[in-house]
Amino acid sequence: MFLSLAPMEGVMDWVFRDLITSLGGVDQVTTEFMRVTHNLHPNKVFYRYAPELYTGSRTRSGTPLFVQLLGGQPEPMAQNALRAAELGAFGIDLNFGCPAKTVNRHDGGASLLRYPNRLFDITQAVRRAVPAPLPVTAKMRLGFEDTSLCLENAKAFEEAGATALTVHCRTKIQGYKPPAHWEWIPRIQEKISIPIIANGDISDFESLLKCHEVTGCNRFMIGRAALKNPHLFTEIRQKKNVIASWNEQKPLILGFFKASTEYVNDHFATARTKQFLRNLTFSSEEAQVVFQQTKAILKPKDFARTLEQLLL
Ligand SMILES: Cc1cc2nc3c(=O)[nH]c(=O)nc-3n(C[C@H](O)[C@H](O)[C@H](O)COP(=O)(O)O)c2cc1C
Repeated sequence: MFLSLAPMEGVMDWVFRDLITSLGGVDQVTTEFMRVTHNLHPNKVFYRYAPELYTGSRTRSGTPLFVQLLGGQPEPMAQNALRAAELGAFGIDLNFGCPAKTVNRHDGGASLLRYPNRLFDITQAVRRAVPAPLPVTAKMRLGFEDTSLCLENAKAFEEAGATALTVHCRTKIQGYKPPAHWEWIPRIQEKISIPIIANGDISDFESLLKCHEVTGCNRFMIGRAALKNPHLFTEIRQKKNVIASWNEQKPLILGFFKASTEYVNDHFATARTKQFLRNLTFSSEEAQVVFQQTKAILKPKDFARTLEQLLL
C-alpha cells in the first residue's frame, strides 16, 4: 500500500509535513502549489515552498517530497520543473485540480481540464525538460463542469509521459461536496496503464478499505482527515482507528508552534497553531478547551504564554 499526504495550500507547509511524517506511515509528501506564470522563479522561492530541498528533498524523517507546479503555459512550467529538478526535487507534480476562482481565472488548476490538448502539452513539456528518471505526476479532478472529458484527460497525461495520476474524485463544480465519486477510478484505470492514486474523502481506516473495494486501488492520497488526526497514517498502517491520547498530542502542538515561529515568525505561528487546534477539536475535547481559551488572543507572546500554561 502506498500512502501519500495531500498538498494543501495555506495548511500543508514544511512544518506540518515535518510533523505528520515524523509520526510515520507516509510514503510521499508534496509541496503546496507553486504558481507559474511567465517567469522562472528564483531559487529562494523554491526553498521557501520546499525547505526539504536542503535535505535531499526529504522531510527530516526521510519521506520523499514532490514539488507541485500550477500553471497553463508549457514553456515556463518546463523551466520551473527543470529548476526544481536541479535543486534536487524527488519528483514534480502538476496541479490540474485547484478550484480557486483567482487561479482558474488566470488559466491554472482545474480550468485546464476543459482542454485535454493543453494538459498534454504542459505535461509533455515538463516530462521532456527534466531528467528521464525523475517522476512527473499529475493531479486532476474528474472534470471542470462535468465528467465528459475525464477519460480523455487521463489519456492525455499518460500519452504525455506522466509517471502516475492522482485523481480527486470530484469535478471542479462539485468543490468539496461529499461524496467523492470513487467509482470513476476503475473506469479511468481501464483506459490507462500508469498507476492511479485515489483521493477524496478518505477519513479513516474503514473509509480507506471502502475506497479500496470500490476502486481496486492500493495507492491513496489523504488530505483533510490528516489535519484532524495527524496520527492517521500510522493508524492506517496498524489497520485500526485509534485516537491519539492528549498526552501524545500536547508536545506536537507546542512543537508545531515553535517550528512555525522558526519557519516564518511568531504572528504566522500564532495563526497556524490556532488553525491546527481548530482541526484537532473535531477529535479531541481537550483541544476544544485549548482552542476556546486561545482563539481570541492576538499577541503572539500572550498566545505562546497561554499555550504553554495549558499544555506543559
Ligand atoms: C485548504 C486546501 C488546500 C488545498 N491545496 C491544494 C494544493 O495546493 N494542491 C493540490 O493539488 N490540491 C490541493 N488541495 C486538494 C487536496 O490535495 C485534496 O485533493 C482534497 O482535499 C481531497 O482530498 P481529502 O478529501 O483527503 O482532503 C487543497 C485542499 C484543501 C482543503
